[in-house]
Amino acid sequence: MSSNPHHTFLIHEQLEKLATFSASPNPSVTRVVFSDEDMSARNYFRQLCEELNLEVTIDAVGNTFARWIGTEPTLPAVATGSHIDAIPDSGMYDGTVGVIGGLEAIRILKQQGVIPKRSIEVILFTAEEPTRYSIGCLGSRMMCGQLTLEKAADFKDQEDVTLKEILALRDFPSDLNGVKMTTGHYHAFVEYHIEQGPILEAENLDIGIVTKIAAPSALRVLLTGKGGHAGCVMMPDRFDAGTAAAEISITVERIAKESASDDTVATTGVFEIKPNAINSIPKEAYLEIDLRDTNLEVRDACLEKIQNEISDICDRRKITADVSLINKDTPAICDETIIDYIEEATKAHNYSYKKMISYAYHDTLFMNQICPTSMIFIPCRGGVSHRSDEYSSPEQIEKGVLVLADTLRALAG
Ligand code: GLV
Ligand code: MN
Ligand code: MN
Repeated sequence: MSSNPHHTFLIHEQLEKLATFSASPNPSVTRVVFSDEDMSARNYFRQLCEELNLEVTIDAVGNTFARWIGTEPTLPAVATGSHIDAIPDSGMYDGTVGVIGGLEAIRILKQQGVIPKRSIEVILFTAEEPTRYSIGCLGSRMMCGQLTLEKAADFKDQEDVTLKEILALRDFPSDLNGVKMTTGHYHAFVEYHIEQGPILEAENLDIGIVTKIAAPSALRVLLTGKGGHAGCVMMPDRFDAGTAAAEISITVERIAKESASDDTVATTGVFEIKPNAINSIPKEAYLEIDLRDTNLEVRDACLEKIQNEISDICDRRKITADVSLINKDTPAICDETIIDYIEEATKAHNYSYKKMISYAYHDTLFMNQICPTSMIFIPCRGGVSHRSDEYSSPEQIEKGVLVLADTLRALAG
């Protein structure tokens, strides 16, 4: 049995509505975790959950769980979901398609009269994006026990607001139940997401079934030199933290390009100098470097090379470097059985598909540590993501929802 293709989809208007909770004007979306916009979007999500009669619970870091109780509620649940936080000036589909799409999948199953044995849950993960606290997948990282709330409590945002402070301010439940989930809590986790790359569109495919997720790592680099007057400090006498940062950024790019793996990518996405005035030599620079690969050994070799070269550059330029590792994650290998279920659902609808790697990271990377997982991808125009012109068509989105619904139904029994 496959889902009813004549279902009236509410996901499109719901995505449009969600996109209005943004700190930047449409079509740009900016929704930093725990901002006013994020809190409004979370309220909207809860409202949609209530309309579907789902039981909503929230943990101490704001991960939100909307559960459709199955006939055997003590069995480990089948979960889906993603994130609704959005990086500055991005689009309306990254993450949101998986959250709102999870609700739509449940609506379809309910309309079909399905009565699942296992409960089916939609999870809204806190801070998949690293915008506020520099580290990605904050919520799922804690759920799988890679990071404790105790340790993360002192993480500071750019205004020096700690995670603990903002959680209290936003009235999230205090740490009574903890955040960490036990292995066995979930039977399976399937995340629905836009591809964020060009492959599905280029090959004219409807669905991507994720077999593996590339492993991200990140460094934070604070450089301290000597400031001074741009006119009066002669070139031999300078200790310019800005030019050291520039050389580091170019070196990071070179190391990724020269890497032994085609999949190595490195980005210096945060680059700040102080005092940031035209007639003042930068006395301080702050960088955040993102490095990823599907091959863990190659990734780690590149990471070490970057750290060594930062040290060489700063020694030569007599700049003090304070380098710290933000995260160094391992790739996720997805579950064959779940991959088979997604493949069956895809075939039942006669959709074209391929099995593929996710080069972006997702909460699945961490959920994979506590239960079997895979992901359903749909194409996005030009492979564009993390930009305001990110786009997947209504038809593409509906196909992904139908595959998700069938996969959840099969997994829930
Ligand atoms: C997720 O947003 C990523 O940066 O891969
Ligand atoms: Mn993203
Ligand atoms: Mn995402």
